Amino acid sequence: MARFRITGGTPLSGSVEVSGSKNGSLPLLAAALLVDGEVVLHNIPSIRDINTMIQMLRALGAKAEFRQDGGLAIDSSTVDSVKAPYDLVRRMRGSFYVAGPLLARFGEAQVPLPGGCVIGSRPVDFHIRGFKALGAQVEEKYGVMHGRAERLVGTRIYMDPRLRSVGATVNLTLAATLAEGTTVIENASREPEVVDCQNLLAACGADIEGIGTTTLTIHGVDRLHGTEWTAISDRMEAGTFLIAGALTRGDVTIGSIVPEHLHMVTELLEQAGCEIDTGDRSIRLRMDRRPDAVDVMTAPYPGYPTDLQPATGVLMSVANGVSVIEETIFDARFNYVDELLRMGADVRVMEGAAIFKGVPQLSGAPVLATDIRAGAALILAGLCAEGVTEVSGGALVDRGYEDITGKLRSVGAEIEGLPEADPESSDDECLA
Ligand code: UD1
Repeated sequence: MARFRITGGTPLSGSVEVSGSKNGSLPLLAAALLVDGEVVLHNIPSIRDINTMIQMLRALGAKAEFRQDGGLAIDSSTVDSVKAPYDLVRRMRGSFYVAGPLLARFGEAQVPLPGGCVIGSRPVDFHIRGFKALGAQVEEKYGVMHGRAERLVGTRIYMDPRLRSVGATVNLTLAATLAEGTTVIENASREPEVVDCQNLLAACGADIEGIGTTTLTIHGVDRLHGTEWTAISDRMEAGTFLIAGALTRGDVTIGSIVPEHLHMVTELLEQAGCEIDTGDRSIRLRMDRRPDAVDVMTAPYPGYPTDLQPATGVLMSVANGVSVIEETIFDARFNYVDELLRMGADVRVMEGAAIFKGVPQLSGAPVLATDIRAGAALILAGLCAEGVTEVSGGALVDRGYEDITGKLRSVGAEIEGLPEADPESSDDECLA
C-alpha cells in the first residue's frame, strides 16, 4: 500500500495472530545457501523484504519456491553466481546476509556495500573484519565487497560489546559453520532471531556450542544437510499490536507468539498501567485509561528493542506525565518525532534521547513514514488520534508487516490501504 488512511478513536478489541518473523526469516533464507540439500521453511511472512531475499537467492542461481502447504523450499545446488545484484542490496540491507554463505561454501562473494540508512549510520565493518579474521581476502572497491577464500579457517572473533551486532553475528556464524576448525565469537548478539538461525544451522548438522549466549563456539563441518524448519513469530509485530491496544484503550489478545520474547515490552506496558495476561502462546492486554509515563532505554536483547522505540514513543506522547526515551542503537531513530509533532505531540529530541511531555490527545494529520518502524508507529498514532490521519510512504510498512490493514481491521480499527498516488515514489528505503 502506498498510503494508509486511519480514522482514530476506536478501541481495538479481539484477537490477532502474529506472522513469522521478518528479521528471523531473512537469516534462515540466507542460511539455505550453505546447505547441500533442500531446506523447507515454514511460517515465512508474506512481505516485501522476504520477496526481495527470494529474488536474491534466485539471482544467485538457487531455486526458491513456495509449496502448496505454504512452505518455502530452497535448493541451492544450482547456485552459479557469487555476485549479489546492487538493485536488491539497495532495497534491503539484509541482503548482505548472503556474503557469509557465499564465501564459506563457494569461496567467493561479490556483494555491494549497503550504504546509507535513514535510521542512522549502519556500516558493515564488523562483518568484513570477521570475514578477514576467518582468512578471506577482502577488497572493498567500486562500492562492492569482494571476498575470496579457498576455505575459511576458524579463529577467535572478538566483537565490540558496546555495539552488539545482530547482522554481524548472523553473517559470521553462517560463514564459520563450514570453516576449517573452530571459531569462537565473543560478544555475539542473542536476539531470538539470531538464535533461531543458529538452531536451524544445528538442525542441518552444524556444530555450534553456546547457542543463545554471547559466546559461540562453532566447530566447522564439511557440509550441511537439508531440513524442515518453522520460523519464530514476529515479536516486533506482536509488540506493535500490543501498543496499539494500549493506545486505543482496548482489549486485544495477540496469538501465535513466544511471550518470553516480549518480556521487556509487557513489563513497560504494565508500568504504563495496562493489564497483561500471559498465556503459553498468547498475551492479552487490557487498558482503560491514559497511559502513565515510563522512561525507557533501548538495548540489545534481552533489553528493550530499538525496533519498537518509535511505537513506544507514540505511547509516551499521550502519556500522563513526562518520559525520557534513550536510543542507544541507531542515532537517527527519532525521525518519526517531527511527524508526531505535526499531530500535536510535545517532544524534544536531544542527542541520543527524546523527552516526551504527554498530551491528552493527538490530532489526525497527513504524515510521512521514513522507515518500516516509523511507519507502523505513525499508523498507531492515527489509531488513537482524533480525526483522520493519512500515512504516506506506506510501501515501507508493507516491507515488514504482513497485511497490517486486514489485521488491524479485524480488531475494529478504521484503517484502509490506498494505492500508489505517485508511481515514481520510491520503495528503496533502508531496512529496519
Ligand atoms: C538488525 C535488525 C534491525 C534492528 C537491529 C538492532 C534485521 C534485518 N534488522 O539490524 O531491525 O533494529 O538489528 O536490533 O534483523 N554496527 C557497526 N558495524 C557493523 C554492524 C553494526 O557499527 O558492521 C552498529 C550499527 O550501526 C548499530 C549497531 O551496531 O549501531 C547494531 O546494529 P546491528 O545489530 O548490526 O543491526 P542490523 O543487523 O543492521
